[in-house]
Amino acid sequence: MEYSILKNGVKIPMIGFGTWIAVKEDSDIVLKAIEAGYRLIDTAAFYDNEEQIGESLQKSSVPREELFLTSKVWKTNLGYDKTIRSFERSLKNLKTDYLDLFLIHWPKNHLDTQDWIQEDQDTWRAMEMLYKAGKIRAIGLSNFYPHHMIPLLENAEIKPMVNQIEFHPGFTQKYVTDYCKENDMIVEAWSPLGRAAVLSDEVICNLAEKYGRTPAQICLRFTYQSGIVSLPKASSKIRMHQNLEIFDFEISNEDMSVIYTLPQTGWSGEHPDRRPLVDLGW
Ligand code: A2P
Repeated sequence: MEYSILKNGVKIPMIGFGTWIAVKEDSDIVLKAIEAGYRLIDTAAFYDNEEQIGESLQKSSVPREELFLTSKVWKTNLGYDKTIRSFERSLKNLKTDYLDLFLIHWPKNHLDTQDWIQEDQDTWRAMEMLYKAGKIRAIGLSNFYPHHMIPLLENAEIKPMVNQIEFHPGFTQKYVTDYCKENDMIVEAWSPLGRAAVLSDEVICNLAEKYGRTPAQICLRFTYQSGIVSLPKASSKIRMHQNLEIFDFEISNEDMSVIYTLPQTGWSGEHPDRRPLVDLGW
């Protein structure tokens, strides 16, 4: 496994295991992922799977300190007090006494409330308090665009270390990733395979053939060479292994440009300033 270093010195694996929906289909999937070699497990209060993941962590022989555990506070629980309560619930469900990374899952937006900036800032104060209390090793954001981050960063005592966004060939959100890089934030990619929609793209398939790899490996190597942490989901051990085996080949600069300039493909359609397409409960 390769690692990156967050700005506070914490090591983060370059590939983690995404758990949305997956755990509902197989309650032991996280145990299988750990056995396959994953050390970063990404969950969220909204995924409603923290308890099952907590059980898998207890069954696993890998010590807690070798794992990198992420959870997120849901959009309906933002604000200072609610964030703290949500964090404590996540800890209890996951049966652990600290998180490696805690994120604000989605920013509030102008459709939610006129005071959305204030709510994001109050939430961030709670994150800072929990971080300073030693309950979280790193804090960050998810699905934040620059106009959400600018007011937050201006007022933050501790700057966010991570922003987790949708990122894959065909949806690279350069204006967000550039802002994160300028502000020394590591980007994490959710749906790095574009929910499998990208895997049948002709350009990706041709590159897979050229490099003797699978389309999924091309996507994940592309993300890795972009300096971004990938959080792929996969149901079988074969795919779990395959998605980790990306550190022994290199995509040329020319082919990286080809992937970067693909037309938009596989976008989920979710946007932090719009109503969600799937029922996200807000
Ligand atoms: P499955 O869950 O049946 O293994 P994303 O992480 O971008 O949301 O993509 C997840 C989708 O990609 C799932 O449908 C998953 O299928 C599929 N997938 C994951 N890994 C691979 C792989 N190595 N090859 C093909 N499909 C994959």
